[in-house]
Amino acid sequence: MNTISIRRPDDWHLHLRDGAVLEGVIGDTSRHFARAIIMPNLVPPVVTTTDARAYRERIMAALPKGDRFEPLMTLYLTEQTDPNDLEDGKNSGLITAVKLYPAGATTNSHGGVRDFDKAMPALERMAKIGLPLCVHGEVTTPDVDIFDREAVFIETVLDPLRKRLPELKVTMEHVTTADGIDYIKSAESNLAGTITTHHLIINRNALLVGGIRPHYYCLPVAKRENHRLALRAAATSGDARFFLGTDSAPHVDPLKECGCGCAGIYTSLNTMSCLAHVFEQDNALDKLEAFTSLNGPAWYGLAPNEERISMVRQADPVAFPDKRDTGAGLVTVFDPMFPLHWEVVET
Ligand code: DOR
Ligand code: ZN
Repeated sequence: MNTISIRRPDDWHLHLRDGAVLEGVIGDTSRHFARAIIMPNLVPPVVTTTDARAYRERIMAALPKGDRFEPLMTLYLTEQTDPNDLEDGKNSGLITAVKLYPAGATTNSHGGVRDFDKAMPALERMAKIGLPLCVHGEVTTPDVDIFDREAVFIETVLDPLRKRLPELKVTMEHVTTADGIDYIKSAESNLAGTITTHHLIINRNALLVGGIRPHYYCLPVAKRENHRLALRAAATSGDARFFLGTDSAPHVDPLKECGCGCAGIYTSLNTMSCLAHVFEQDNALDKLEAFTSLNGPAWYGLAPNEERISMVRQADPVAFPDKRDTGAGLVTVFDPMFPLHWEVVET
């Protein structure tokens, strides 16, 4: 197969940032994707409906002329989140989900939740009104090894929370372990998971072998090969509980290439080409559309996009820029370490 046509994809987990970086990167998403769930971890974070409305306007103002793109806004859950504000945000159509960052889990997450009891009024309201919770599924306790953070989170935080509030719809974001995949599969309802492009392609060797490679550093950190294979199997299976959330997370190079580099991999620019490669390798090109364009909308109760995109397998490797130039500096584009032949040709 050298050509595929699929419904226009959506990205169910995206960092667009603000200001010059937003302006520099948004076209890489809007070129291929119709909608994206926009992460709220700005400085300061997007915590109220008013914040989200203003951020949405800045995103729309930064869109390249002529691009049609719908940002699906999220709020950053804090111990002070007002349940009425969440409900108003959902009812007005502005808010699609609420994001839970355990305090200290990742970039700009110090205002996240420490004491879940304090966030219960908001979580209970979300369960009642059907507003999904997107979780960054890692514990942050210093005694837990960073490679075990996801498995420990499932056991000590997520499972108890889901038992306490079975009606709450939870998206486990950027699943990185076989434990996460198994947990999602074992749930009877109200649980789904996003998988990133890069976690389908790299394991932890990419980060550490032959030198420390900051552009492969993200959170949750890439795990062992057996975990990557479990993610690949889930993504390419067509199972409706798994769908694309790129977690494309631009940081300008000086913030990555330094003594304490930021977590985040920038994949928006070549994600569709990387994914077509992965699905082709696994003889599952016929499942690509489910992963990028069907399962996500179904989970969020939205119609899939009517428009389509076409992808062609070129004989020669496609040349992608290795940096995205933003007004704030250069952002390195994800290098999958193999040549990419699939190209989006029509959007
Ligand atoms: O690698 C990551 N980068 N993981 C996250 O959870 C946050 C993100 C960011 O905002 O840079
Ligand atoms: Zn993220």
